[in-house]
Amino acid sequence: MTSEDIRKSFLEFFKERGHAVAPSSSLIPDDPSVLLTTAGVQQFKPYYIGKLDPMKDFGARRVASVQKCFRTTDIDEVGDKTHLTFFEMLGNFAFGDPDATDGIGAGYFKTDAIRWGYEYIVNVLGIDVSRVTVSVFHGHKEIPKDIESYRIWHKEIGLPEEKIKLAGIEDNFWGPTGNEGPCGPTTEIYVDGIEVWNIVFNEYFCDKSRDELLAGNANLKKLDGPGIDTGMGLERLVAVIKGFEDAYETDVLRPIWEKINELAPQLPDRVSRIMTDHIRSSIFLIADGVVPSNKESGYILRRLLRRVLAYQVQHDVHDDLLKSIFEVTRDKFGIFYPELKNDDILNVIEQEKIKFQTAIASGLAELKKYEKINGQEAFYLYETFGLPYEIIKELAVSDVVKDLNRKDFDNEFKKHQAISRAGVEKKFGGHGLILDTGELKASNQEEMDKVLRLHTATHLLQAAMRLVLGDEIQQKGSDITAERARFDYNFPRKPLPEEIKKIEDLVNEVIQKDLPVGFVELPKEEAAKTGALFFFKEKYPEKVKVYYIGHSLEDAFSKEFCGGPHVSHALTIGKFKIAKDESIGAGVRRIRGILDK
Ligand code: SER
Repeated sequence: MTSEDIRKSFLEFFKERGHAVAPSSSLIPDDPSVLLTTAGVQQFKPYYIGKLDPMKDFGARRVASVQKCFRTTDIDEVGDKTHLTFFEMLGNFAFGDPDATDGIGAGYFKTDAIRWGYEYIVNVLGIDVSRVTVSVFHGHKEIPKDIESYRIWHKEIGLPEEKIKLAGIEDNFWGPTGNEGPCGPTTEIYVDGIEVWNIVFNEYFCDKSRDELLAGNANLKKLDGPGIDTGMGLERLVAVIKGFEDAYETDVLRPIWEKINELAPQLPDRVSRIMTDHIRSSIFLIADGVVPSNKESGYILRRLLRRVLAYQVQHDVHDDLLKSIFEVTRDKFGIFYPELKNDDILNVIEQEKIKFQTAIASGLAELKKYEKINGQEAFYLYETFGLPYEIIKELAVSDVVKDLNRKDFDNEFKKHQAISRAGVEKKFGGHGLILDTGELKASNQEEMDKVLRLHTATHLLQAAMRLVLGDEIQQKGSDITAERARFDYNFPRKPLPEEIKKIEDLVNEVIQKDLPVGFVELPKEEAAKTGALFFFKEKYPEKVKVYYIGHSLEDAFSKEFCGGPHVSHALTIGKFKIAKDESIGAGVRRIRGILDK
């Protein structure tokens, strides 16, 4: 069976059982609380809580779909044989009333969901029963054990008890996603010990996030009508059926992987896998309207593409690779996903390639400013300009990279990964900061991007304030998050509205000039002589960085002692706005600056 056969047979199977077939929704979800679509259930969430009526939209209370999904959770694992960012999820869903008699396609619950799951796996896919095991929820605090599912598997299907594993809330309880929502116990089907199908019984409504639920702080209420939500990853399923350990050997990924290996045989396996995954994902994202940018889903796409482009530079890969892979992907998936038959996708990729080449050039210019570079600084260049370690090592003057070694760079990378994972968790209730200099705070890439923009804007702000209000303006403190920059300064009176406006206009004028942002590293005394602003001289180390915004240190609009990091060009800031100015003490005032879009 090929992936095409599986998609078809899955939808057919559930159509024969009264399901309406719903097309995959876009990877860009309607729900603004999530960045990208991560599961089949995403587009159906409103039907579980009675917000939308499935009878009106599908003519049935049950639907089946093959959904395009994208998850960043495993992005650092991509390159091995199994982890992917983009994947397809087969799913069947039921909303509400199992006893409804208003036509075919009433809702259904555990008996049908389990029986059909089993039948599809064993009868349609032809997987031998001996390879199948399942798991069932064993209960947690006041949530009871799922005796019903256990009984169905054991008594109705006839699975022996040793094939039914019991598991807790971590593994066998789904949701809620977001701050509240439907959730419930799950039963999972395993083949050869690999989880292939997650069947969720949406029985409850939880009034808080999953973390709160796990911590015992949430309330569960039975939903009026329970629902079914199932998900089965297509790539993994194909691999399991064929007995492949390697997802890239399946017919889903093999054509792309083979083409990459043919055009660039010099690539290590790990790199060609990353390229296969990232290019395929990028094409699907672009087809749904994502464009590379510095925020949110655009930033995810940019990172995928830039990683591929950096590997191309590093491994000297022929230019037409992206075009060839686009064609292979379009031909392989275009029949099922016609949105891929669009040559504009290639234009988007091409434009990003041009931008990346410019960024690489600025990265190299930045690299030239170092007399010596360490792991942390090399990682900064990698993060900010996309300069991979190998390119830094290869292209810098040998003295500069004398002390730079892979281990330090990797350690920096790991630190960053750990923090960035913590950052992602924070979005869902955990805590963690990806960037915390005391002054700058961000807990994920998107926030980091805004913080850098506001940080550079704050330098422009101080320079503009000195021009408008006078040279006696001195920074008294500053604190920057993704939402706002706080800048404290000394001034004896309230600035007039027209002064505030003038400062704001001046900042935006400089932004529009797109001045580059650079720095030099100097001994403290020398740095002070450049006219750069500093805050408390005592608190700086012997050698300091002077960040300047302008074409050279001499004619810069702004110069300040600063540890960075900053954006590389002023235009990246976008539009800056002064949201508030208030007194916070005798002669000390506080300005709040925000990004206007
Ligand atoms: N929502 C569940 C999952 O993503 C089942 O589809 O696994």
